[in-house]
Order: sequence, then C-alpha cells, then structure tokens
Amino acid sequence: MNILLVGNGAREHAIADALCRNPGAVLYAYMGAKNPGIAELCLKSGGEFLIGDIYQGRAIAEWALERGIRLAVCGPDAVLEAGVVDELEAEMIPCASPCKEAARLEWDKTFTRNLMKKYAIPGCPKFGNFTDADEAGKFIDQLKGEVAVKPAGLTGGKGVKVVGFQLKDANEAKDYAKEVLASNIGKLGSVVIEEKLSGEEFTLQAFVDGKNVFGMPMVQDHKRLGEGDVGVNTGGMGSYSIGKVLPFFKPEVYDEAIAIMKKTVAAFEKETGKQFKGVLYGQFMMGKTLEVIEFNSRFGDPEAMNVLSLLTSDFVEICKKIASGNLKQSDVRFDEGKASVVKYLVPQGYPEKPMKNQKLEIDAKGIAALGAKLFYASVDERDGSVYTGSSRAIGVLAVAERIETAEQIAEKACLLVKGPVAHRKDIGTRQLLQRRIDNMKRFGNA
Ligand code: AMP
Ligand code: GLY
Repeated sequence: MNILLVGNGAREHAIADALCRNPGAVLYAYMGAKNPGIAELCLKSGGEFLIGDIYQGRAIAEWALERGIRLAVCGPDAVLEAGVVDELEAEMIPCASPCKEAARLEWDKTFTRNLMKKYAIPGCPKFGNFTDADEAGKFIDQLKGEVAVKPAGLTGGKGVKVVGFQLKDANEAKDYAKEVLASNIGKLGSVVIEEKLSGEEFTLQAFVDGKNVFGMPMVQDHKRLGEGDVGVNTGGMGSYSIGKVLPFFKPEVYDEAIAIMKKTVAAFEKETGKQFKGVLYGQFMMGKTLEVIEFNSRFGDPEAMNVLSLLTSDFVEICKKIASGNLKQSDVRFDEGKASVVKYLVPQGYPEKPMKNQKLEIDAKGIAALGAKLFYASVDERDGSVYTGSSRAIGVLAVAERIETAEQIAEKACLLVKGPVAHRKDIGTRQLLQRRIDNMKRFGNA
C-alpha cells in the first residue's frame, strides 16, 4: 500500500519507521528538508521522497494522487494548521491526521479553553482570553500575578512564559502579554492568561478515530534546556516512559486523563459537527488535582519515539482504522512491560544560537550494536556526511526492561555521535526519577 508521510523531523522518522514495519508499506515522503532516515526508508520500501514546501496542501495532494497514495499521515502542527489534510481528503485520500478545524484544539488555545469551559470538562484552570493588554493586566492582578502567559496561536512550543520561571513577577507577565499582542506572537491577535499550575507534568497520547479514544503509555518530556530542569524552554530535550503509567502516579491518574480526552473529543464534535481523527496529545499537570496544560493534535516530539518503539501491533492498520473511523482497543497494543528513554542531541548554542552546518561523525554500527536507535531531526545530508541544522539534531532511543538500563544504553549511544552537540545526561536517571517521586509526595498524591 502506498502511504504518504508529510514532515521531516525525528517524530516523522519514528512514524516512518513504524509504518515500514508493515511489510506491505511503500513509503512516500513529502519533506521540507532531507531527513536521511526517512529518505532511506522510502527508497528501501520502494517509494520516493520529495523536498518541497510542506505547507502547500494543493501541491502535496497532486503529488499524492499521481503516486496512488491510499493513506496519509501528517506529523507537524503547522502542517495540520495549514490544512494539508483537508486538501488530501478533498481528493478522497484517507488521512490518519486531523483536518484544519479539528487541529484547532492545538492551534487555538482560546478555542480549546472556551470549549473546556462550555462543556464543563474537568481539568480546566482559571483562564481569560484577551485582545486588550490593559484587560489582560487586570486579570493578571486578579490572579495575584501567579500566571502563565500564552500566545493563543502556534509558536513552535516556545511562546508560553510562566511567572517564577521565564517571568519574574506580575509586571513582567503584563509586559509579556502586551508584547504578545503588539507583536502578534502566535498570529491570532490574542493572549491567554491562566492560573499558574504546579505538580508533575506528563504527556498522554491517544489514537482517536473520531469517537473512540485509545491511550498509549504515559511519557514525561523535558522542556528545559539544562540538567535539573533549568534554563530556557526548548522543543523538548528528551523523554522517558516506564510501563503504561509513570511510577510516581496512581493508576487512576491515567484513567482520569483519558476520561478528559474522551470528553474533549465528544465536546469538539458536538460544538463543530466535525470529528477529530488522528493522535490527540494531552499535556497534563498532576498536583493536588489533575489539570490540562494543553492539547496537541499530533504525536509529540520526542514522545513519538518512545511510544512508537513500544507499539507491538500494526501501525498501518491503526492508521487505516483511524481514517475509516472503526478503530478497536484490540488493534492497539503496546509492550507495557518496558521502559524507554530518548535523549536529543542538539547543536551547541541551541536554542538561541545553534551552531549550524557542523559535521557530525555518527557511529551508526556502534549505536545499533548497543541496541539503541537513532532518529534524525534537523540535519542536512550532503556528500554522504551529516551536518547540524538550526534545531534539535538527532534523537537517540533505547528500550529495555528497566529504565536504568535504557538510560545507560541511550547515554552510551549519545557518545557515539561526535561533533559540537550537547544532550541532557540526567534524563531517565534514578536521581531525576527520585525528584519526581519526592515532588508528588509533596502534593500528597504519590
Ligand atoms: P505549552 O507550550 O503550552 O506546552 O507550555 C510550555 C510549558 O509551560 C509547559 O510544559 C509547562 O511547563 C508550562 N505551562 C503551561 N501552562 C502552564 C500553567 N497554566 N501553569 C504552569 N505552567 C504552565
Ligand atoms: N514534546 C512537546 C511537543 O511535542 O509539543
């Protein structure tokens, strides 16, 4: 079956890898830049790839039609926002990703918070949406300055600022809200002010076929640049999973989170008459109670690498059934006895001043011998060599029975990539896990 993949990050490399585990899959990729891993999978499976503009739905749909594509998967948020799925569906190509309107759950934070409020979905913190900086300022005072300031639209994961982290106090929060509006950060002309939440964050991704919602193993991402969770926010420096539910949460937390996601999917259909099909990504904060930080309408990056490596059932079958709206729980199986660790190698200076165009020496054989896997992200391949781009370069994944083993394998594999790149050594370590456990104890919820 000819399958189209749109996107070229490590998340898409993990998606390509999962699709190609089905021996009948012939992969076609539409990429913004050449991801060497995806390119290789295309050619090996008998497909093709094209480097072009991944936001031009019309051109992508025409390319897909000419190649007899029978199923499509789109990875990046901005591709979904651009309506690429709508163009593909207009040509009757089944898609396992949401149309533009459904992807709004991610690309318009105002819409989603209002939806949660209107349908009384649990986990919605106090919030307000503003197009006027003075009104936003008043609301910040009302919440005593303990707020998160969020551009309503997409910012590549880097637009949210929280008092106590990126913002010093209420005054800085007001200044940032003003800046979001004046510079139209997120491009929707509005800013969301939310009550600041505390606790432990986790990611729960689910396959959604319009009605049914089937969860994947929980993952914890690490947004901050530095070890010990310090420094600026990034696209995500790495992530880990341990079985289905992270060990510092009670199993009920998983069920509660899934219940929130089911209610959101149902409310979305009721409100718009459209269905959400694809992967719904819930980002949650568990403190005294469970709260929703945000929803994304796609796999997480890096989290896709964790869960897709643990998936034991056929991903092509899952995607087909998402598109046709008849996915069953028995179609979705994960190896829930295993732990997974992903560490991202990023160019030195990332995210502010990444060292671009630096050659990387990758010992691919050594990495494979360790049992680790490598997923390419923002790199450039020229003349048989791989160079850094301007964002995260390579995701390194290891899966093992125990998190300690997975962490050690991932760590050793990272050292087999030589060049001006850095990674967080603490992700997946015992010390970091202990901090999470202690944190949950503080909330009396361990
Ligand atoms: P987002 O881009 O929405 O994922 O937000 C980036 C990061 O900001 C999240 O991973 C959280 O750590 C933090 N954040 C977002 N919303 C809140 C909130 N209401 N309270 C505290 N932290 C938040
Ligand atoms: N890992 C965060 C995201 O994909 O949005």
